Amino acid sequence: MAFQRVGILSIGEMGYHWARLLAGHGVEVLTYTKGRSDVTRRRADNAGARSVPSLARLVSESELVVSIVVPSAAKRVAAKVAKALLKAGRRDFLYLDANATSPMTAREIERHLSPSSANFVDGCIIGGAAKIGKGAVVYVSGPQAARLLALEESGLSVKVLGPEIAQASAFKIVYAGLTKGLQGLLVELLVGARKLGLLDEILQQYDKSFPGLVEKVGPSIAGLALHAARRAEEMDELKRTFRHYGLTAVMAPASEKLLKKIASLNAGEASDTGERKGDILETLELFFQRGLLQEK
Ligand SMILES: NC(=O)c1ccc[n+]([C@@H]2O[C@H](COP(=O)([O-])OP(=O)(O)OC[C@H]3O[C@@H](n4cnc5c(N)ncnc54)[C@H](OP(=O)(O)O)[C@@H]3O)[C@@H](O)[C@H]2O)c1
Repeated sequence: MAFQRVGILSIGEMGYHWARLLAGHGVEVLTYTKGRSDVTRRRADNAGARSVPSLARLVSESELVVSIVVPSAAKRVAAKVAKALLKAGRRDFLYLDANATSPMTAREIERHLSPSSANFVDGCIIGGAAKIGKGAVVYVSGPQAARLLALEESGLSVKVLGPEIAQASAFKIVYAGLTKGLQGLLVELLVGARKLGLLDEILQQYDKSFPGLVEKVGPSIAGLALHAARRAEEMDELKRTFRHYGLTAVMAPASEKLLKKIASLNAGEASDTGERKGDILETLELFFQRGLLQEK
């Protein structure tokens, strides 16, 4: 049976598109915005989400709470939800962490939630925010993961990866290494081509050698103006995952370093509606003009 009331923490770009889709299917979306930025509050209003005055109210009224924040906030948010659940005395509650985190972070979230009555589902989202309901997939894992299939009645595409917590996190973090790695490699080389006066020529040759690659990665490069810091956090999670399993990641730290340099340009401005601005060429030019990769 479809969920009637879903809590979303928080209404960022991805949260906005979830909220709009769910609301469009008759689901009441709740959120809690204390301590959040003005743009997140405005996005919550624009998405039709009802802001409640406390986390205790959010967990009391929602059948499911979904955490869609930034990787570095995922544990903190879960710990606060666990505290609110104990306060509210809520039973049979579902909590989905949909952030791109390491398997170790997923297990820590499970530990945070275990004193409460939460049924924790580990999850991740593959596909851009604007593709929610149009091809993006929510992968889930854990003993209660199949309960999330009810979201399909509200327009989301959900796939159960398996019965173990951390399967979905592991899957996403390895996937994220490819997308962020491609973004980083292309940004670096295309900034170099711009400097050498060969941008159009190299783009044509890339397209000849790897048809569709730049076109496919382009929109996520435009998204870097705003999301580089969060994506750098994902590469930190990937690096730590490899270390935890006795492997040395070489590419992930390099992607992380470049993403941090992009984040330090402060080149993006979040929109009230979760829409992205710009294309790959405008974004590369902006990065170039702001001195990305230029030796001092
Ligand atoms: N965007 C995509 O296309 C995409 C695709 C796949 C997966 N994802 C996943 O979706 C998640 C969110 O990404 P996004 O692009 O939506 O990021 P975003 O636009 O930066 O939004 C993040 C949201 O989390 C809020 N937040 C930050 N710290 C918080 C905290 N401690 N407690 C509560 N809320 C907090 C932010 O509020 P403030 O405004 O107050 O900072 C903002 O509303 C990430 O884990 C990412 O891996 C996103």
